[in-house]
Amino acid sequence: MAPSSDGPTPVVEPGPSQEVEEPTVAALRQRVRQQEILAALGVTALHGASFDELLDSTARMAAQGLRADFSKVLEYIPSENRFLVRAGIGWSPGVVGVATVGADLASPAGYALRTGKPVISNHLENEERFRTPEILRQHGVHRAMNVILQGDGRPFGVLEVDSRSDDEFLEQDIAFLQGAANLLGMAIERDRHERSLRAALDRQQVLLGEMNHRVKNSLMIVSSMLRLQASEVGDETLNRHLGEAAQRVMAIGKVHEQLSHGADVQRMDIGRYIEAVCRDLDASVPHCAIRCEVQPGIEVASDRAVSTALIVNELVANAAKHASDSTGSDAEIVVRLSAGDDDALVISVRDAGEGLPADFDIARPKGLGMRIVTAFVSQLGGMLAVQARAPGTEFVITVPRKAPRP
Ligand SMILES: Nc1ncnc2c1ncn2[C@@H]1O[C@H](COP(=O)(O)OP(=O)(O)OP(=O)(O)O)[C@@H](O)[C@H]1O
Ligand SMILES: [Mg+2]
Repeated sequence: MAPSSDGPTPVVEPGPSQEVEEPTVAALRQRVRQQEILAALGVTALHGASFDELLDSTARMAAQGLRADFSKVLEYIPSENRFLVRAGIGWSPGVVGVATVGADLASPAGYALRTGKPVISNHLENEERFRTPEILRQHGVHRAMNVILQGDGRPFGVLEVDSRSDDEFLEQDIAFLQGAANLLGMAIERDRHERSLRAALDRQQVLLGEMNHRVKNSLMIVSSMLRLQASEVGDETLNRHLGEAAQRVMAIGKVHEQLSHGADVQRMDIGRYIEAVCRDLDASVPHCAIRCEVQPGIEVASDRAVSTALIVNELVANAAKHASDSTGSDAEIVVRLSAGDDDALVISVRDAGEGLPADFDIARPKGLGMRIVTAFVSQLGGMLAVQARAPGTEFVITVPRKAPRP
């Protein structure tokens, strides 16, 4: 930022070189060069260079623009009241990433940080306002310029260029260095925002996962209590009804188990969910083997997935209940799920039993199971077909993957 009447007044040691002179062609070229470097740095910052790359580029370009031997990005460490040399050019090994310098008001960098004013010191050896940091002495630095690295919040630190040569840094150079520092400051701020957003997102994911886990556990408890109650009543019909109710609750609970694994709560892999529901059913009907063949990677909205799973649950329960008696202990029920035409989902439940009774009418369901099936198929905007097989029965449901537009 160019020093202006309302900007911070630079702290420049007095001397003949600071008197206003007509700019020479060489000086004008130098300003143009600095503008080009700032533009290049802006492009690097906008193109999403990594944070460390950006620190390095700023240090390198700042040194280039001021024809300086050294530059450094100093990160302020409040707990130590010191600066860490976070990036830099020209320093001997063991300085960048390791060395620290004091951040008190008596150091040029500390002064720039605390006051926000740019500092130029062209004759460090004669400097009375500030002490010369040891690291500059060791590297034979004669002159230094510091500007604050400010973001929206607390300052990150200071950008400094140093040189061994007897030339001088001018007040006009401050505009270039502050420009570079401002670009870096914006990138630092963006990096801070991104980090806090990522942290918030991670926290939200953990919470969601935890919530789904708890809902699943609660539903499992409800399901277990229903089963327990079923075993207590001593009435076979009631016992069976409670057992079926427990299985339905379990199928809904499974959705929360699936959701607690995934990153998205709105959508889920329907195949994996149906597989999990079938595993449970398999365990609850020991006289049947349930084979599940699903096409993986078909994503549907979670609420549609729950309705679909409840349909499968009823059809498999029916197959286990009404079709397995005739086929004996190794009765097999096959559940298939695949993507159909027009973004539809095709699910088939097939058994090898005796087939449907003569009075079975798909349009007039009598039992609760088929009423659940037809209600959910219509809610999903799908179709239900039933086919007699030899042997057995196959129910085929075709549902659109996405909800029809209202
Ligand atoms: N896979 C099948 N094989 C043979 N018959 C079946 C099959 N599926 C359903 N049925 C017949 O259709 C009828 C209606 O099934 P539905 O699921 O509506 O009732 P349910 O199973 O008898 O009782 P519930 O209300 O407990 O489900 C059954 O009673 C049965 O006779
Ligand atoms: Mg039934």
